Amino acid sequence: MNPTKKVAVVTGANRGLGFEASRQLAKQGYQVIITSRDESKGKTAALQLQNEGLDVISHPLDVTSEESSQKLAEFIRQQFGKLDVLVNNAGIALDLRTEEDSIFNTKIDTLQQTLETNLYGVLRVTQALVPLMKEQNYGRIVNVSSGMGQLTNMQAGAPAYRISKTALNALTRILSSELKDTNILVNSACPGWVKTDMGGPEAPRTPEQGVDTIVWLATLPDGSASGGIFRDRQLIDW
Ligand SMILES: NC(=O)c1ccc[n+]([C@@H]2O[C@H](COP(=O)([O-])OP(=O)(O)OC[C@H]3O[C@@H](n4cnc5c(N)ncnc54)[C@H](OP(=O)(O)O)[C@@H]3O)[C@@H](O)[C@H]2O)c1
Repeated sequence: MNPTKKVAVVTGANRGLGFEASRQLAKQGYQVIITSRDESKGKTAALQLQNEGLDVISHPLDVTSEESSQKLAEFIRQQFGKLDVLVNNAGIALDLRTEEDSIFNTKIDTLQQTLETNLYGVLRVTQALVPLMKEQNYGRIVNVSSGMGQLTNMQAGAPAYRISKTALNALTRILSSELKDTNILVNSACPGWVKTDMGGPEAPRTPEQGVDTIVWLATLPDGSASGGIFRDRQLIDW
């Protein structure tokens, strides 16, 4: 372990945008903790990046579990004694491209499950890990949101997913406000439409393009913006 290295946690990092964000942060010299709800998938993902010569390790994390979130916090405290970056990336889109794409077919259960991961999951993990940032008065938190949560462009389609991302944006604002007197910056990122399991094969962006803004926000210098939502490194409307 190199104590001068910055330590980053990425949730849902075994595939898609989380995996690519882990790769890019490790390329920038961060010690990255790849977290995944399926431990073996996390190990496989970490091995792939280790084989690329990158400094990553894996640790289990199911963002819907309080116990799992606390265990991760304990692990980081013992192993590194600090945390510099948290990328809240894990997400689900249960109603995207299904019959529940219509609000009139939305099941309350689907909405609850979606919020459990995309909203409460982010809050749970952030509550568990922020103390490790406060202790050193440094932190960068990136909540991976979506243009589908923007109120300015709110439309029909995938209502549970959309509502969860709008609520996530509110969480970004609240966290940022509570942390305004610290060097912990909290922002939302919209990756654009990206070719992943969630985005599908039609998506125009590669994962590398999709994580650019996420990694940029995760590595912002002191005194930078907090409490905004960014796409392509530009502030966009809520
Ligand atoms: N792709 C796009 O076009 C796009 C656009 C805008 C925003 N986003 C956002 O970007 C983020 C990543 O999306 P993606 O496209 O990379 O999706 P993805 O390929 O479906 O990956 C989602 C990741 O989240 C993990 N996950 C789901 N539930 C979890 C839980 N309870 N605990 C821990 N991990 C969990 C998944 O783990 P498993 O492998 O175990 O399922 C997987 O690693 C999401 O927040 C998504 O809403 C994506």
